[in-house]
Amino acid sequence: MNVLVTAGPTREALDPVRFISNRSSGKMGYALAAAAHGAGHRVRLISGPVALPPPEGVNVIPVVSADDMLTAVEKNLAWCDLLIMAAAVVDWRPRKPARHKWKKSQGPPVIEWEPTPDILSAIAPRKTPRQVFCGFAAETRALAREAKRKLREKNLDAIAANDVSRADRGFDAARNELAVFFADGAARHIPLASKAVCARRLLAWLENLVEKKVKNNSKNS
Ligand code: C5P
Repeated sequence: MNVLVTAGPTREALDPVRFISNRSSGKMGYALAAAAHGAGHRVRLISGPVALPPPEGVNVIPVVSADDMLTAVEKNLAWCDLLIMAAAVVDWRPRKPARHKWKKSQGPPVIEWEPTPDILSAIAPRKTPRQVFCGFAAETRALAREAKRKLREKNLDAIAANDVSRADRGFDAARNELAVFFADGAARHIPLASKAVCARRLLAWLENLVEKKVKNNSKNS
């Protein structure tokens, strides 16, 4: 099957030398891409700026901003059977990034913010009955409630939620613990493990969802 993965943070320019971003290391998305390649799938990995080597056999598409990532996802959407949005997309950007470097002598800048495009919400109307979309939810509280809301609002088939308030898992850590919620109401748990192990387990469930959709669609057609 064709698997499209997004990974890492995005960056939004504040001025020509500064940006806003987040602590995402890209490790979870890269582990998912590697697991999908290991399972024999064709993999394209849309990656924000990270310090990781490209996983073997995976076609990496580098991007910087949320707009770049949206364009790359749109270009590759029709190709994929499974989309996993593991990227931590920055939610806001300056309405007008400064054209010249802010000088310290000007004092602290006052920034007017605007939202970046929500990639999953933007592409949701283009999902075909055969495609499976999985999102991630990085939360510091009300993990299950927030994840279920995003599952519904972004029209996802599954969402993997992780607690990013703890140093030993989630953002920038080597390991993760995932609560996975499915559109049919099922919930499953992946206990604390390396991101490679979490990726293989999550991928196996998502492969099942794709197979089910393919079967249902061949029955109906
Ligand atoms: O709404 P929130 O950012 O918490 O949702 C997380 C999920 O939505 C992740 O799968 C992330 O990749 C995706 N996302 C997106 N576009 C954004 C922000 C997040 O597709 N602008």
